[in-house]
Amino acid sequence: MVIRIAAVGDVHLDQDVVGRFRPALEQLPESADVLLLAGDLTRHGTESEARCVATEFGDLGVPVVAVLGNHDHHCDEVPAVIRVLEDAGILVLEGTNVVLECAGVRLGIAGAKGFGGGFAGRCASEFGEPEMKAFVRTTSAIADQLGEALREMDCDLRVALTHYAPVPDTLAGEPPEIYPFLGSYLLGQAIDSAPTELALHGHAHAGSERGTTPGGVRVRNVAHPVIKQAYSVFHLHPPYAGATAGKVSAVSAGGSS
Ligand SMILES: [Fe+2]
Ligand SMILES: [Fe+2]
Repeated sequence: MVIRIAAVGDVHLDQDVVGRFRPALEQLPESADVLLLAGDLTRHGTESEARCVATEFGDLGVPVVAVLGNHDHHCDEVPAVIRVLEDAGILVLEGTNVVLECAGVRLGIAGAKGFGGGFAGRCASEFGEPEMKAFVRTTSAIADQLGEALREMDCDLRVALTHYAPVPDTLAGEPPEIYPFLGSYLLGQAIDSAPTELALHGHAHAGSERGTTPGGVRVRNVAHPVIKQAYSVFHLHPPYAGATAGKVSAVSAGGSS
């Protein structure tokens, strides 16, 4: 038994990109049970760009679950963006979760956009000016919601979906000076607070694909400029009776774009 999870982030859709992913997406039901979108679905977060996302990623024949990214917030049209996506059947998570039934296996997905702050030894702290404290508290609150959303699920396999990175490993290739704006160790702690099998994120266009949380959870950066294909597919093996956790056994290539 294998559960196949397709994922991509940072597709940054607008009119000029519509149709680029669709040929590969038409084949999706043959290679994946679900598609996860790791944020930055639009270029500037407008309602019209969200309609492009709905056109490209709607009616795929498999469930589509998304988180938003920082670009999707830029024009302050988040409620409209979410409405357009959900009207197209794309479920948007923010500190929330969903459990999907895939061939008798309960696949739990918890998602949140995440935020910045940096990583152990090089991170912002909740100290000093109100603005700095608000910055760190924002990440802390999002991480708390993600952790709770992961822990509360009654499922066989758990996947965490964020836009910002939970570990520095998958940022390798980005300038170290901007790591604090690309992710936070608090997201990694949240992922490690539950028996998570796989953590997917985007945002780091110049980062690298593979990483691991301190607790041993596999992390994959699925930003489109990193994976250089329409989506990657991850194979998860549910735990057998008596086992305590599933395993990510293989990563296979998805379609091209
Ligand atoms: Fe992006
Ligand atoms: Fe981003």
